[in-house]
Amino acid sequence: MGPRVLRRKLLELSKRSRVFMFGNHKGGVGKTTVVLQLAAALARMGFRILVIDMDPQANLTRRMGLEYDENDPFSTVSEAVKENREGVGAGVVLGVNWNDERTGQPTSEAELIDIIPARFDLINREQEAGAVGAVRRLKKALTGWTSHYDFILIDTRPDLGHLVQLAMAAADEVVLVFEPDYDTVAGAIRMQEFVEEHGEDLGNPELRVGMAFVNRYDRSSEQDYQLAGLPESLKSKLVELDAGGAVVGLDDGGEDYRLPRYIPRIARIKEADGAGVSVSEYRNRKGRETTAIFDRLAEKFVERVIREAEAA
Ligand SMILES: Nc1ncnc2c1ncn2[C@@H]1O[C@H](COP(=O)(O)OP(=O)(O)O)[C@@H](O)[C@H]1O
Ligand SMILES: [Mg+2]
Repeated sequence: MGPRVLRRKLLELSKRSRVFMFGNHKGGVGKTTVVLQLAAALARMGFRILVIDMDPQANLTRRMGLEYDENDPFSTVSEAVKENREGVGAGVVLGVNWNDERTGQPTSEAELIDIIPARFDLINREQEAGAVGAVRRLKKALTGWTSHYDFILIDTRPDLGHLVQLAMAAADEVVLVFEPDYDTVAGAIRMQEFVEEHGEDLGNPELRVGMAFVNRYDRSSEQDYQLAGLPESLKSKLVELDAGGAVVGLDDGGEDYRLPRYIPRIARIKEADGAGVSVSEYRNRKGRETTAIFDRLAEKFVERVIREAEAA
């Protein structure tokens, strides 16, 4: 299905997941990368996106063009959570600061993406973990004003502590991001078990792991061995870009591109993160290939959401 058809189908469905938390117990697996590039790809499909940075490292915030400056401060998710009041998140939403090099105007992707940013002081919210109901404070902050977004994507830090639990309490669904190596798979499984055991404790008994994205896939036999050995409960959640290596045209007059099964390890992705841009900023062949990968990921993501809603 093309993006337009998917978009129409999705908008017809009223009962569907909108808030997705991206997580892994382990760091450096590409959570922030996936949240950012998926948000950009969903915006290219025409969806309105809110991203929320729940990591005190604030990598997502920086990569979306917002550098915290003491002289020109902005409010962040930390203040919203601290305030502990319904709807306060609306007061800390900012636009994404991605601008067209030539015109200086926001890119077409940026126009459809808003962000609730973070800064390092988010770590102080950990102190509130013991307070009754504290885990529901992010959910409260998001109540009553977010329905115009098609998707809300929450980036998290690599642990199972209070900040991640705030995100879990606010989410409809958890998306695991992992690299097929032993430790990272273990981190994903640990998070899945946590979600299954503690949804109720977090005031969110419906919470579940709905999808799992494989990142930095290099087709090595070690990675394929890890993937083959995944527990069935995780295997069934895997989102494949393409099982059969479908080819996509890149409109550059050159050869068509054969999509990999999962998000590959590509230098362009790391470069885009360093520069704080969407991969679509790179217009050469490699850039188009990378953009095609995330376009396909976004399509598969939306297809899953539609399928789940129809089955519910
Ligand atoms: N598929 C990929 N190919 C190449 N580099 C990647 C890929 N995914 C992530 N990276 C790089 O790996 C590093 C860690 O990714 P990041 O998204 O920050 O991980 P996390 O949020 O899980 O800690 C970043 O420098 C990022 O650019
Ligand atoms: Mg991160």
